[in-house]
Amino acid sequence: MRQKELQQKIKQLATDKGALLLAHNYERDEIQEIADITGDSLALSIEAQKTDKQLIVFCGVHFMAESAAILSPEKTVLLPRADAGCPMADMVTVEGLKALKKQHPDATVVTYVNSSAAVKAESDICCTSSNAVSVARSVAAKKLLLVPDRNLGRYIAKNVPEKECIFWDGYCATHDRLKVEDVEQIQASHPDALFMVHPECRPEVLNLADHICSTSGMYEFAAHNPATKFIVGTENGILWRLRKENPDKQFIMANRDMICPTMKMTSLEDVLHCLETMETRVTVAADIRIKARTALDKMLAVPR
Ligand code: 13P
Ligand code: SF4
Repeated sequence: MRQKELQQKIKQLATDKGALLLAHNYERDEIQEIADITGDSLALSIEAQKTDKQLIVFCGVHFMAESAAILSPEKTVLLPRADAGCPMADMVTVEGLKALKKQHPDATVVTYVNSSAAVKAESDICCTSSNAVSVARSVAAKKLLLVPDRNLGRYIAKNVPEKECIFWDGYCATHDRLKVEDVEQIQASHPDALFMVHPECRPEVLNLADHICSTSGMYEFAAHNPATKFIVGTENGILWRLRKENPDKQFIMANRDMICPTMKMTSLEDVLHCLETMETRVTVAADIRIKARTALDKMLAVPR
């Protein structure tokens, strides 16, 4: 079936079934094109919570669909590819986190939303790439366990120097791959470009940035900054909307290999299959869901 035909079929079926199609900013272009809403991981879960629709098709990775299921347990949340996980989220286990907590009983656990529901349930508060610094500042404890991203952890530590920070040694291979040499090389060819970068990148790369922000922060920065050329330090799926919303501006990847393999798994065929079969539903057991919800709600209560 041709791409356009497939997209129309999905849209029709989604309307017939009353489904809301959500797509993360890193999904393939043809998936973002048909989504009702595109956004960052937390924004999409909040949209899933706000909608009257009872069926959510979450084109993203597993922890995102779980977050939607935690916030809206009464809704049906479908993940078109059950095997689309986040390799960084998988780097921390509940057992490992429990052991670290035992070593630091006086610390508050601040967990990035890129984590499983079970890990969130063992955490005191969650954070996202856009509110990580405000969340860390809001915590009363002097000592923080930052889980699972060591790069986001170091970024928090730099911006909240009054806290003692202990990092879990996880990382996102897609962002960690970006090296100082890559950025310097592109900057040399485009000296008039501004460099915007995601805090999942290495600290030495963040040191070169004009702006450090979440994926949603990049849309805002590019739209409101008078510059016309930007070097992009995040997963390449972000380019679709950046280019669509800013046709007169130029966006250059800092490293062309910043492609998340699991974010790119979901195809149009998968979305159609998911709507036809209503598979795979993502649910979170009540005991875990209630504790994970507390950590998410505490985060949502922190002013930006
Ligand atoms: P945000 O879209 O929340 O910035 O997250 C980036 C990411 O890596 C999601 O997997
Ligand atoms: Fe996980 Fe990185 Fe892929 Fe995001 S880009 S889903 S953090 S592996």
